Amino acid sequence: MLDRYDRKTLLFLYANPAAMAAETGKAIPNGAILVLEERKAKLGADGNPVRNAEGRFIAEDELVAVNVQERRAGWGVEYPAAKRNAEWEYASFLPNGQRNAAANIESCFTCHKPWVDQDYTLIFGAFVNAGKK
Ligand code: HEC
Repeated sequence: MLDRYDRKTLLFLYANPAAMAAETGKAIPNGAILVLEERKAKLGADGNPVRNAEGRFIAEDELVAVNVQERRAGWGVEYPAAKRNAEWEYASFLPNGQRNAAANIESCFTCHKPWVDQDYTLIFGAFVNAGKK
């Protein structure tokens, strides 16, 4: 879970068992699915997020977006090296579960590309490299 101060949202990251089998310093196993759910933060009368006892945002039920990263054997072979993120693919979904046709999928590849040491993931790779604590 992560508070996004700039967007007044909270991010919830879900990882499937294949992803959770990842080991420090190795590629995340094929079959891994990482789901990043963005939800609105509860706002106070001043328009700013309300904090809980730990100073963290409080999530509303309302979804903003659901972004997904999935890794499968053989995926990504059609991409040039400058774009390819190993065997990862990306997708973005609207709160109603439909694919977001307006999402800029190229930008997912571009922004995650430098994170080679974490197998093209950001929060998840840091979590794996920290011994999944
Ligand atoms: C401007 C850079 C940027 C772009 C563009 C971007 N991401 Fe990310 N992504 C991040 C950052 C930074 C995080 C860590 C969470 C945070 O701070 O928002 C992240 C985290 C994630 C995660 C959680 C798993 C992980 O990597 O730890 C998923 C899934 C994800 N992004 C999918 C996508 C998808 C799908 C797209 C394209 C629609 C996308 N991202 C575009 C920067 C980016």
